[in-house]
Amino acid sequence: MGGVVASAPGKLILFGEHFVVKGYRAIATSISLRARVRVEDTSGSWVELHSPTLGVKSRIPLDLSRSAGGELDVYVEILRALRKEGFSIVPHRVVVESEMPVAAGLGSSAATSVAYTLAYTTLLGSPLYGENLLRVSFEGERVAHGRPSGIDTTIAALGGTILYRRGEKPAPVSARIPEGYVFLVADTGLKRSTRDVVDYVLRVAEMMGEAGEQVYAVADKVVEKAVKALESGDMELLGNLMYFNHGLLVAVGASNLALDTIVDIARMRGALGAKLTGAGWGGCAVILARRGDVEVLRGELERHARMVKVINVNVPGATVENILSK
Ligand code: MEV
Repeated sequence: MGGVVASAPGKLILFGEHFVVKGYRAIATSISLRARVRVEDTSGSWVELHSPTLGVKSRIPLDLSRSAGGELDVYVEILRALRKEGFSIVPHRVVVESEMPVAAGLGSSAATSVAYTLAYTTLLGSPLYGENLLRVSFEGERVAHGRPSGIDTTIAALGGTILYRRGEKPAPVSARIPEGYVFLVADTGLKRSTRDVVDYVLRVAEMMGEAGEQVYAVADKVVEKAVKALESGDMELLGNLMYFNHGLLVAVGASNLALDTIVDIARMRGALGAKLTGAGWGGCAVILARRGDVEVLRGELERHARMVKVINVNVPGATVENILSK
């Protein structure tokens, strides 16, 4: 085998981001934007890493004794985790590309971790899937941001739509989005570190004491109702729950002016629901709209967002796309 191309989907957290970090439930769905990783055999004595998406290149020795620097350290951590599981570290070149904006709440880093783990283990002839794929890729995410709940990696590996609680097996949600309704993502174009927002929100929650705990408990109730709305295809209820969930995220300090503007415009222009998605302080908002309203809505939102896109949700998880012969 000369090489392998694997891909994994990005994700939208539909409900419960941040609250999930403290053990409450969240709902995530996979999206039609993917990260794609090509891994090729080389004759050198290095692991060569190249991410055109991030504009970075590095190489690390096969004994993994040196870090790659910055974002590429994720790959070193994954290789260390694989070595612990008995995989050998052979010279290879890694090229990573993502259809998602990075650091925008769509799970680009988790999707690349998962796609890389699948591509490399396939190259070695023992592809990891499901729980095993998840476990190893998660080591990479730990480097990307300090206290990941694991939701991003889970959806990238498994795909579909899931109800997620930290430390528990994810439960599939049979989401039914009736014809005529679509999700859009609007990217504020503002980059932020997930780790910083997560730390800030945890501090706010702690400062609020019992009031903070009650907000978390309410968010959990919203998730419960949202599962029912998704499974019964009740888009009006689903949309209102999204606005409600956004309000709770504002309360704990995860939003900002750019995101609130998008959510307010969506509401004024008749969208059924909108909220920030992912960590907040920038990145993306998700909007639920009637298909017939999309053009007007998009025109309006494009004045305030760097990118507005209609996306498909509930797509398949990590997959090997291509085996390259020598
Ligand atoms: C980031 O996509 C979602 C957060 O809930 C953090 C996490 O779950 O690890 C903010």
